[in-house]
Amino acid sequence: MSSDQKPEKWGYGLTWLITAGLVVMVAIGVVKLRKTAIDSAAHLRAEKAKAMEAAKQQFEAETKATEALETADKKAAEEKAKQLALAADPPASAEDIAMGKTIYATCAACHGPEGSGSLNPMAIKAPNLAGMPAWYAATQIRNMKNDIRGGAGDMEAMMMKPMVMNLTDKQIDQVSAYLESLKPVAPKHTLKGDAAKGKALYATCLACHMDKGQGNPLVKSPPINNLPDWYIVSSLKKFKSKVRGGNPKDLTGMQMSAMAATLADEQAMKDVAEYIKTLAE
Ligand code: HEC
Ligand code: HEC
Repeated sequence: MSSDQKPEKWGYGLTWLITAGLVVMVAIGVVKLRKTAIDSAAHLRAEKAKAMEAAKQQFEAETKATEALETADKKAAEEKAKQLALAADPPASAEDIAMGKTIYATCAACHGPEGSGSLNPMAIKAPNLAGMPAWYAATQIRNMKNDIRGGAGDMEAMMMKPMVMNLTDKQIDQVSAYLESLKPVAPKHTLKGDAAKGKALYATCLACHMDKGQGNPLVKSPPINNLPDWYIVSSLKKFKSKVRGGNPKDLTGMQMSAMAATLADEQAMKDVAEYIKTLAE
């Protein structure tokens, strides 16, 4: 019987062995599977990170491209604005300047030869005009012609008015171009003020007339660093009393009127004029 039982035992032993082997194999399989799962999860994560990085890079590249386009657009717009400004105020031709010189013969009696200004106490005190930007000269001449500057109380501008009444638009541009083409001359000063006090007052003027008094065509404010002190003071008085800049059609003059109103008295005007003299180039 025992010999019969033996193979049975063997059989049991074998079954156990096989079972154990299977269990080990399954266990190994499970471990391997788990590892593979972990590996593939890590791989997936890495792939996802890579994809996200690529998307981010693409987004950044697209943003950069859009920005480049916008900058190019802005540049093109600026260039176009410049060209439009030039078209509206084209550089004067040599003929125009020559014609302007001929017209100026009627102005020289008051404004001096070559726009040097006059200071003869027997004559009219007229400011120097040499080197004045054409856009500003033309505006002022048109203002006088059209009764926007030189109303009641403005003796000086009223005196000049008859001289420009009959100028055509083209002639006004030509004589203005001639003035701009002239080499600036040093103005003839007659007053004295306190430059240090004037400097503090000039803080109000900075925004439009700029640090060197060079003006800013974008806000239509003229250069004032080459004007004679007596003309600066006389103009500030006129602005403050609205003799100049009182006409509702004179938008820039009205602005300046409001600014002149901040100067307390004639002494303050002399002080600011004294400081403006120090800005002369
Ligand atoms: C009778 C003298 C006289 C004549 C002639 C004259 N002007 Fe004037 N002009 C003046 C006076 C004075 C002023 C200053 C007005 C003031 O004080 O507000 C002036 C002012 C100006 C201004 C403004 C200056 C500024 O800084 O705002 C311009 C531009 C000008 N004249 C151009 C001309 C031109 C161009 C002619 C010739 C076509 C001319 N003038 C003829 C007397 C004259
Ligand atoms: C808001 C801008 C602005 C400010 C600030 C300003 N100005 Fe002006 N100023 C102008 C403009 C614009 C004109 C030209 C007015 C016209 O078209 O007649 C002008 C004209 C003048 C003129 C006459 C120039 C000439 O040739 O006839 C003088 C002088 C002057 N300003 C001085 C001053 C002083 C001094 C201050 C400071 C207290 C000042 N401005 C502040 C805009 C300004």
